[in-house]
This record gives sequence, C-alpha cells and structure tokens, in this order.
Amino acid sequence: MRVEERSDRADGIGVDLRHHGDSEVGPDLLDFAVNVRAGTPPRWLAERLAASLEDLAAYPDPRPAREAVARRHGRAPDEVLLTAGAAEAFVLIARFARPRRAVVVHPQFTEPEAALRAAGHEVHRVLLPPDYTLDPALVPDDADLVIIGNPTNPTSVLHPARTLARLARPGRLLVVDEAFADCVPGEPESLSGRADLPGLIVVRSLTKTWGLAGLRVGYLLAEAALVRSLAETQPLWAVSTPALTAALECSSDRAVAEAREWARELGGERDRLAAELAGLGLRVTPNAAASFLLVRSPQADRLRTRLRAHGIAVRRGDTFPGLGTEYLRIAVRDRQTNERLTRTLAELL
Ligand SMILES: Cc1ncc(COP(=O)(O)O)c(C=O)c1O
Repeated sequence: MRVEERSDRADGIGVDLRHHGDSEVGPDLLDFAVNVRAGTPPRWLAERLAASLEDLAAYPDPRPAREAVARRHGRAPDEVLLTAGAAEAFVLIARFARPRRAVVVHPQFTEPEAALRAAGHEVHRVLLPPDYTLDPALVPDDADLVIIGNPTNPTSVLHPARTLARLARPGRLLVVDEAFADCVPGEPESLSGRADLPGLIVVRSLTKTWGLAGLRVGYLLAEAALVRSLAETQPLWAVSTPALTAALECSSDRAVAEAREWARELGGERDRLAAELAGLGLRVTPNAAASFLLVRSPQADRLRTRLRAHGIAVRRGDTFPGLGTEYLRIAVRDRQTNERLTRTLAELL
C-alpha cells in the first residue's frame, strides 16, 4: 500500500491548522501564548489524581464520571461521552459524520477543521468579519454540519445562546465548542443543558481551567442516539482512569463554584489588561469573555518577535483563517504578570 503524505500546508488551504500556542512557549519565556490557567491544577485536584494512580491496574470505568458530568449539566448519563480532551471529540465527530456541506465558522480553533480534513471531508469556511459577532444568515442553509466556538478562540467573543440555537435544525449537526465556557461566570450563554435542540453537540474541555492539558480530558453532550454513534468511533478505553477521576472531581458543586469565582476574578483582570493594551494603541477586539484577548496592530508581527527577545511569548494570529500577521492573541494572567507584559510593550512601542 502506498502511503500518501497529507500536509495542511501543502494542501493550499492557506494556513498551518496544526500550529498551536504550545509551540510558541519555551522554558525561559513568560507564557502569554497558551490559554491554560496559571498555577493549575489546584492542589486538591492534584491529590485526587495522585490517589487515582492506585487503580491503574484496572481498565477504566467511565460510568461514575459520566454520571457526575450529566448531573453538572442537568443531562442524562447517556447524553455524555467522555473524551481524551475536546480535541478527541472533534476527531470522533469527523469520523462519524458524512457531511455534504461541512461549515466551520472562523476565526476559531483550527483542530475541528483539521480533523474534518484528515477524515477526508471538504470544509467550507465562513469568515466572520471584525468584530466577529455571529450573523446566522452567513451560515449556508444547506450546511449539514456546522462547527462554532463559544466563547470563541482566538477572538474571545461570546455569542448569545439564542443566536446559536437558531443554527440548530433537523438534518444538521451543530457542534458548539465550549472549551472556554467556564471563563464566563454562571455560563449564561452555554447550550450544555439544552437537550431539546436537534443535532446539537456541545464539546467541553477540562484542560484549560483545571490545568490538565497533559492529562487529556474533556467530553461532549448530545442526544443519546448521537452519543452512542460517536462512541462507536472511539478507541476502547480512550480516557484513562486519572482523566475520568478529573472529570468526576471537576463536575462537583465545589469545583463549579471554584471555577465561577475564578471567572469573576479573570473578568476584572481581563478588562484591566484590555484597557491598558488599548491605551498603548493596540486595537483590542471588544466584548472579550474568555481568558485571552485578540489584539490588532500593524506592527504585531514585529512586536511578537521583539517580545520573545524580551522573554515573553504571545500567540501569533496568522495561523487562524480570517486573521493575519497584524493579529496577536494574548492570555490574561494575574495583575503582576500582565503588568510585566504591558511595561515591556510600552517600551517597545
Ligand atoms: C477552543 C478550543 N477548543 C478545544 C481545545 C482543545 O482542548 P483539549 O485540550 O481539551 O483537547 C482548545 C485547545 O486549545 C481550544 O482552544
């Protein structure tokens, strides 16, 4: 059998969909490129994960985690599928779906498109213009698979739940990537509890807020029949026992309350950082709701390189369809760390 090499760069699709913030950080760099909450996982969670190592001899049992996640979102356990991070959910969807017209709403996280292409599907891009609010009329009527983020990476824009709900219809899979939904206190625009919308798949990640990027844990929520079909495409025992422990623990009332409290603090720091960046002449995408900001400057690319020389990594924007070299994505950190960034930027500008 001849093995054909597939390369997103060589496909002429314009950008490297497989570029992510983790390739922009390094041991000597202050990290504003990766959107994982700093100082995580919290100690209480790390201790429970460590305790779960006692059970590694047994094959993983997803049932308790499934029940806990279902309870957290007011869903039935058979409407939950645990995955090895949100990234695996996109692969399962791409394996299961047979779309005639798959639409990815950009700018957004690029793995959903990469997964669709890797599964052999053609992808139609809908590019939202600045300031990246969703106009459902831009999504073609004949789209039978639509993928959108909420709040969206890298724009940080939060779409209203009622606008997203208008995209759902019989005969269409509507995938809403809510990897950053818990950045918004109380998650008012989340569709995770909506069992009534046809074809809805909500994808969630536990790797950002809880600092579990290396553990790989997330889940999807959908109607039970859809969950069963998606589960058929998943490798057996894909989610490890420690990852299932994390899903169970992060779904408790206490964990949800802790995330809500963090989201409140995050909002304050984000608004402050946004104002400071705007004061330095950078154009900050308005109405940011997640743990990062999308900024625009004609000098963005040069700034990024010069920040690196000063020990600071920010995320380039030009690997997101719909953006270009004049964009940067900047993670929101604590006050002191943010001030280090703004001081350095002020010198460079
Ligand atoms: C919007 C978005 N969705 C999903 C993911 C993947 O998350 P996970 O680590 O759970 O696979 C990321 C990771 O950067 C992301 O930014």
